Amino acid sequence: MTAQTAHPTPSRASDRILVALDTPDIARAATLSRDLVGAVGGVKLGMEFFNRNGHDGVRQVVRASPDETPRGDATKQQRLFLDLKFHDIPNTVAGAVRSVMPLAPMILNVHAAGGHAMMKAAVDAANFEAEAMGIVRPLVIAVTVLTSLDEVDLNAVGQRGPASEQVVRLARLTQDSGLDGVVCSAREITAIRQECGPDFKLIVPGIRPAGAEIGDQKRVMTPDQAIHAGADYIVIGRPITGADDPVAAAQAIADSIN
Ligand code: C5P
Repeated sequence: MTAQTAHPTPSRASDRILVALDTPDIARAATLSRDLVGAVGGVKLGMEFFNRNGHDGVRQVVRASPDETPRGDATKQQRLFLDLKFHDIPNTVAGAVRSVMPLAPMILNVHAAGGHAMMKAAVDAANFEAEAMGIVRPLVIAVTVLTSLDEVDLNAVGQRGPASEQVVRLARLTQDSGLDGVVCSAREITAIRQECGPDFKLIVPGIRPAGAEIGDQKRVMTPDQAIHAGADYIVIGRPITGADDPVAAAQAIADSIN
């Protein structure tokens, strides 16, 4: 028997917002995370944070108050998207997944370019550990093509053909490997939905509320546009973390999703 994936697409608009805490600073990340409990669906911590602060740092960020035990009341904790993008041989990736499972992430991810066996090893390891721990399995998702790579870059690493075709091909491979979904840009939502169907989870960064600073993002969609295009979760960093009042900013974003 495999562990049940009990992370259905949320119904409340705020639960669809994952806030990117792009900082190595534990105190800053923890303050933002605690303030935003209930205002967002979870926090995203990536390799910058994790490689500096490890498991203890993550625990300090996701727990609701400094006094709570690391395995305290789960309903009061922030849900965790652990964005470490594993990419190695299957045995090593399985080991990496096992090593982060004590953090009970809601979402973890790997690179689809690692191939079928690697992705399957990741999801099998997550299943096995979740069952042993008596918790629901995280959503295991894949990164298809990094949006920082253009077609010249992709050609240079030996990949021919349009990036958009590679994205859909890798999304299909991700699904065939038993994973739950992919991270994708807003403009890829429609093609991947068509290819992979309604249950495949799409987690979408590059989101800007109407009128917000675009910063270094190139092609953005508003939260409402992305959700209506078919995103299950939207990843938003600076429009929330850089706001004078992050909670109000998150609430305004949730209110803008109808
Ligand atoms: O601050 P901002 O809203 O631009 O943050 C977006 C987050 O999503 C960052 O953590 C960024 O690394 C991540 N991301 C992205 N584009 C991708 C993949 C991830 O912006 N294609």
